[in-house]
Amino acid sequence: MRNKNINHVVHEWLDELIHTNDMIVDATCGQGYDTLFCLQKGAHVLGFDVQKKAIQKTKQTCVDYPNLQLINDSHAHLNQYITHFNGIIFNLGYLPTSDKTIITTAESTLMAFEKALDCLPQHGWMVVSFYRGHEGGEEEAQLGIQWMNEHLHILKTYTYEGVNRAPIAMLGIKR
Ligand SMILES: C[S@@+](CC[C@H](N)C(=O)[O-])C[C@H]1O[C@@H](n2cnc3c(N)ncnc32)[C@H](O)[C@@H]1O
Repeated sequence: MRNKNINHVVHEWLDELIHTNDMIVDATCGQGYDTLFCLQKGAHVLGFDVQKKAIQKTKQTCVDYPNLQLINDSHAHLNQYITHFNGIIFNLGYLPTSDKTIITTAESTLMAFEKALDCLPQHGWMVVSFYRGHEGGEEEAQLGIQWMNEHLHILKTYTYEGVNRAPIAMLGIKR
């Protein structure tokens, strides 16, 4: 049987997690597709990306939705902009349509995970997609998955069967 696309699976999870007026952080806006999904569910979104191009693209993608604030900074600094939110999404790695050298790193990702944990209420959620095919991706995935297992209650995981270095998506809830 064909594997379901990982982004579709994540959106199925988000569909159940997000309620109208929730405050969601998109830690890696990219082209804005995850941000758009959250806005369409009636959430307020604070989006981060280190690339100006990604911020511009997300602005275009989400042009019809006012409940969006975009920050051109690393998610490692998220606590400088927000202190409470219901859930956070990390779609790690690089933007396929842009500069593939601008990637998330294990160091800043783990820093952002720690800060996010401080901002989530009990039962607040974290959805993370790890990509392992690029340089540094395997290390980021190993350390990130270990961190999630140690700090969260893991509700769901998804990966592709029979695919080498397949991406892994995880949904964890704050205990
Ligand atoms: C896989 S893409 C995200 C895709 C996006 N969620 C979407 O729906 O289109 C990863 C993004 O993370 C961004 N990024 C890399 N390091 C970052 C950091 N430290 N803080 C915030 N964004 C970062 C990249 O610029 C890239 O746009």
